[in-house]
This record gives sequence, structure tokens and C-alpha cells, in this order.
Amino acid sequence: MLNETKVVGLPLSRIDGPLKVSGGAKYAADHGGHGMLHGYAVPATVATGRIVEIETGLAERFPGVIKIYTHENRPKTSEDDDKWKDAVALPGHPFRPLENDRILYDGQPIALVVAESFEAARDAASLVRVRYVAEEPHTDLGREQRRSYVPPQPRKEEFVPPEPRGNPQGAFADAPFKISSEYRLEGEYHNPMELFASTALWEEDGFLTIHDKTQGSQNSHDYVCNVFGLDPEKVTVKNSFVGGAFGSGLRPKHQLFFAVMAALDLKQSVKVEMSRREMFYLTWRPATIQTVSLAADREGRLLSVMHHALQATSRYEDYQENVVNWAGLAYKCDNVRLSYELAELDVSTPGDMRAPGAATGVTALEMAMDELAYEVGIDPVELRLRNFATRDQNQDKQFTSKALDACYREGAARFGWNSRSFTPRSMRDGNDLVGWGMATGIWEATIMPAEAKVRLSAGGKAAVSAAASDIGTGTYTVLGQVAAEVLGVPLDDVTVLIGDSSLPKTGVEGGSWTAASSGSAVQAASGAVRNTLLKHAKSMPNSPFGQASQDEVTLAEGRLVLDRNHQVGVSIGDIMDAAGVSFIEEHGKVAPDQEQAKKFISYTHSAVFVEVKLDEELGVTRVTRVVSAVAGGRVLNPKTARSQILGGVVMGIGMALHEEGMVDHRTGRIMNHNIAEYHMPAHADVEDIEVIFVHEDDDKVSPLGAKGLGEIGIIGVAAAVSNAIFHATGKRIRHFPITIDKILEANEEARRSA
Ligand code: MOS
Repeated sequence: MLNETKVVGLPLSRIDGPLKVSGGAKYAADHGGHGMLHGYAVPATVATGRIVEIETGLAERFPGVIKIYTHENRPKTSEDDDKWKDAVALPGHPFRPLENDRILYDGQPIALVVAESFEAARDAASLVRVRYVAEEPHTDLGREQRRSYVPPQPRKEEFVPPEPRGNPQGAFADAPFKISSEYRLEGEYHNPMELFASTALWEEDGFLTIHDKTQGSQNSHDYVCNVFGLDPEKVTVKNSFVGGAFGSGLRPKHQLFFAVMAALDLKQSVKVEMSRREMFYLTWRPATIQTVSLAADREGRLLSVMHHALQATSRYEDYQENVVNWAGLAYKCDNVRLSYELAELDVSTPGDMRAPGAATGVTALEMAMDELAYEVGIDPVELRLRNFATRDQNQDKQFTSKALDACYREGAARFGWNSRSFTPRSMRDGNDLVGWGMATGIWEATIMPAEAKVRLSAGGKAAVSAAASDIGTGTYTVLGQVAAEVLGVPLDDVTVLIGDSSLPKTGVEGGSWTAASSGSAVQAASGAVRNTLLKHAKSMPNSPFGQASQDEVTLAEGRLVLDRNHQVGVSIGDIMDAAGVSFIEEHGKVAPDQEQAKKFISYTHSAVFVEVKLDEELGVTRVTRVVSAVAGGRVLNPKTARSQILGGVVMGIGMALHEEGMVDHRTGRIMNHNIAEYHMPAHADVEDIEVIFVHEDDDKVSPLGAKGLGEIGIIGVAAAVSNAIFHATGKRIRHFPITIDKILEANEEARRSA
């Protein structure tokens, strides 16, 4: 097989783009026509306690209302917790909508109104009267610190902090330079553009087709089959298009349960859409309180690293992520102590949100590194280079590749870092203070088991199918590119069918693993198609292929040819004719290499450089320039890859400056459950962002050589912004988001102490 790039590696536009911009792409709520019933959930208005009375009479009499479900009349479902556990469930008891009269969190769905129209269901929902016995809510992580605990059951073994190594406390005590700081990050709430929705289409003989907003059609499929005891053959879940998810769609949400419950009960099609407000009552990025202590010698070499994180979870599940382990592997250090604890709050269970754990943990670590750079008095990039790790010391494994040094070098060059003055408050642009900050990003690079099917027709058209999802990431396009590359056909001649639970098995789209996993499965299936073609070609009379092996042939322009002489070959049509077939279809499959994993480990890396301009009097910070240099292995499509990083950087700016769920701890209620008051970066907040992909060869991370790019873009951004604000103002603000009030307060303190 020739190794020249034909389609993979080109900056091609998304193949699903025209459908999306023309409105032709149907999302979960866009399905279903006449006769569809609509459900609307009623949220609890206390955060903890019990329902004493739920009065639905008035709502039931509202025109168009069909039925109202509460805990008093909910159809029976499985009693067994295990049946409620989806593929990425957590230790604990999964939430069961309308299970009983208990209120576990503000906004918990306590009734479902089903009506002939969405408007009728929504209006009737406002007429449901509820009497509660409210109890005192506990929602303040700071106050619950005293009740922290180590999660008794790990979500994943890899999330458990390793045993301490060396003598971290002793080394810290003896070191000439040290810092120890506490960082607070408030909770963030998922606000993808598309609201959660499920359309359950009731069909003859109990068949159900469900259009669900999810990151995994098969995960939703298995969940509803288990919970409702349905025949898996009779249920299909589709997620053809997903309007952003970022982790919010990994686990099934209550609208899926409700749509299926009502469809089964009423034997009719039912659609349940969430409101924007309800999006705040789902999974969220948990607040953390972290302490990082670092010590170094006179040259800035790390002598001690200690990182502790306390993180919020709910009362019914132990959500966990890897917050602190990064601190033991990002830099070389022989004395390390890492610890991680949870505190239970009266909130909905937190969940994964773009780069879960790293987005918060690496932020604290990278702010601490900046503080150490200033303590020792050396350039922040130089400090990181002096502590460059060439092994994962947590696991004592070798990296399959690590071009992070190139990220520092190329990112710094593009940003112009060399002309930075070290001293804080020393750079200005007119009235604005100017600050330059940087940080390292690190995320796991991994593949998951994935399967795919590829069919090539005699006419040279190809079809790829898999249950994989495209949550806005570009999956359609890169899977098409991989097939086009191996089969030697133009991308226009490849159709990609994904987002359907009946297609070849694929896990949820998450963890930045989809392109590398499903892409490698498509590569394997396409390779198998080519091999079958070669086998048929060899059986042809006077075959020119003789003893040629699969590595010595290529498919190009509709012909199977010999690599050493492209003139020698046979057309796909002639080969299939001779074999008496009209198409060839093969399966492909990949899984992590367990043997290799004993010695090697893979991470994606980045170096992010940020410029802020800050109006001291108004306290307004603008992120005027970002350079993100990424080492992500082989880049399958530089255009969709760049979009992933841009999106990550924008979310990072949101983390740094804007996003904050505000809870009134007296009532335990989320006060800003709308996108007018929950601030996210808008266009005016996003200025110049440049993305660089540094060269990185990796023949071990995945068969395709690709690492994932969905999450690395956000990691380190909030730290780099905060470090830039320090450089601009001389003040460290260790409480995110860094809003105007905090900057004004810091300025005020600076004035008072001056
Ligand atoms: Mo990602 S937070 O695993 O969708």
C-alpha cells in the first residue's frame, strides 16, 4: 500500500455541512408529524425535601391535555438499580424519574404533562400545584468541606490517585523556593445549542424508533430496553445529528425516559423537549476547591509537587474524574503527593464536561506553575522546559509520543513570547494594561473498541456504516475520508451512515476517542474490502497480480493496481464481474492493545499563549490574542481539527471569565438558569485565535496514528488567561470565573497596600 496522502490530511469541509446550513439536517426534536403527542416536565421548586401533595386537577382540565404522570401513577419499570445503569453510569443509585416523593435537587422533574401540542403541555405544566415539606439544603461546597470523603468505589481505576512517591512534605519543607495556593472553580452548566429532546415513534406490533439527543445511540437503546424490559430487536435509537453535547449527552437524560414511558403507556408517538431552564438541572461541571503546593531548587527544577482537590457530587451518585493525577505526570518530579475527595451536595449529579477533570485540575496546576516561575524568577516557558517529563512517572510508562517541546517552541515563536517583559504591570497599550500568560495542556489519547462496515459497489461507490455519533465534531467527514483514502475513491462517492443503534457496535462519543477509534475501524474494514478485491482479482484468468500481497497493491481511480507499476491493474467493475458479485462488504474492528498498554501510554499535549488587555478602571478584561499549539499525532482533517481547538479555546475563555452557575445556598436553587444571566463567550468576547498543529509521528497510539482533539483545546486556557491577568495587573485571582468585581476588588487591594 502506498503511503501517500490522497484524502486523509486534507482540510476538507464537512460533508454534512450543506444539510446543516440549509435546515435539512433533522435533530432529535425535528422528527415526527401528525398525531404526535408532546410531553413537558414539571420541575421541583425546592432543592430537598418531600412532596406532600401534587394537585393535577386544574392542569388535567386544560384543553388538549391527555395525561399527567407523577410518582403516584407512574407506570412500573425495573426495580433493579443495575437495569438503570447505562454504559457510563457512576457508582451509586442512578436517578429514576418519578420514583417517589423525595426531592434530591432543585429542578428535579416531578411530573410529566402529555398533551396534543407542545404549548398545551407547557401551559398545563404551569397549573400543576405542589406542596412540599422542604428541608435545609446543603449546596455550598466550601461549607461542606468538613464532610469530605474519599470515594469508596472508584469510577475508573485510572482516576484513583497513585500512592505518594518520594518524600513530598520533607522536600517541600527544605526547598529554597515554594508556593502553596488554593484555587476555587465554580460549577459550570452545559449549554449546547440543541436542547435535550427525544421523539419516540410508536409503530405497529410494539416497535419503537426513538430520535434522541445523545452521544451514544446504543447506550440510549440499551438503557430504555433495560429500564422498560423491552425486546432489543424492537427498539432502534437514532442520533443522526447532534447540536453539540460536550459530555452532557453521554448518559441518558430524563426526557428519553419520559418519551418512552408515555409512548409505551399511551401506545402513541410522544416527543419530549427540554426548556433551556431544564438544561441547568442536568449534568454539570462540578465546582472544585484545590490546593497546589510546588517547590523548586534555584534552577527551577521541581523538588515537590502536592495537589489536593475537593469536588462536588450529588447525594445519590459519586461522580468522579481525574483532577489531580495530571500533576504527577505533567512534569518530572520524584516527590509527589496527590489526593482527591468528594463532598455530597443537594444537587443533580455532576457529569463530564469537555476535558472533565483536566479542565479544572490542569488549570490549578498551571496557575501554580506560573506562581512558581515568579517565585524562582524564571520565564514560565523556561520553567516548563526545565521540568520536561519524558516518562509518565505515575504509571512508570513510556509515552508513545510527546511533541510538547515543539508546542512550546512553535507556539512561543508565533505568539512573539520572546519580546515579553517578565515584570508584571510593565506592558501597556494606551490606557489598557497588557498581560501575556501561558499554560500547558494535557489530555489522555486513547482508543475504545469500535466496529464499522464498509461496502464498495462495482460502480466504485462506497458506503460506511457504524453506530458512531457526530456531536458536531466532524465524524461524518473523517470517516468518509478514511474510506475514500483506502478505497481510492473521491470523498463525494462515499456515503456515511452513522448515529443508529442498529449499525456496527460503537461506544459513546466521548473522551476524544471517536476519530481515532471509529476511523481505525473504517480503515480496517476498507482494507478488508481491498483484500477481498485482490483475492477475486487473483482468480481472474491471466491475473496480473500473481503473488502480490495486500501491501503491494493500491486502489486508485477505480482500479486495483500494483504499487511498483500503476499501469498494471484491473478495474473494480471488471474484478466484481469476474467474481459474479455486485458489491463487496466487510467488517472492521479495533480495540486497545492490552500488551502495548503495559509499557506505553499516550497523551495529547498543547501549549497555549494568551494576551489580555485590561481596563483597570472598569475592570474589563478582553482576551485579544490566543495561540494554541497542539501535538495531536496525525491530523486527519486540518479544517475540522482546527474547529475543535477553536471551540475548546472559546469554552476556555468562558471558564476563565464568564461561566458560573449561581446558587442561592439558602434555598439551594440555581438562580441564573437561562443564557441571559449565565454568561458564555459571545462573538464580541472572542478575538484572534490561532491554531498550530505541530508535527508528531505516533505509530502506537491508534492504527491511524491519530490522537483525539475534542478536548485538548480547552485545557490550560483558563490558566493562561489567569496568568496573563497576573502579568497585566500583578494580582493573582485564584477564584474562577474572573469577573469584573474580582478585578476591581484586586485593584482596590493593590491601591490600599501601595
Ligand atoms: Mo466528553 S466530556 O467525554 O463528551
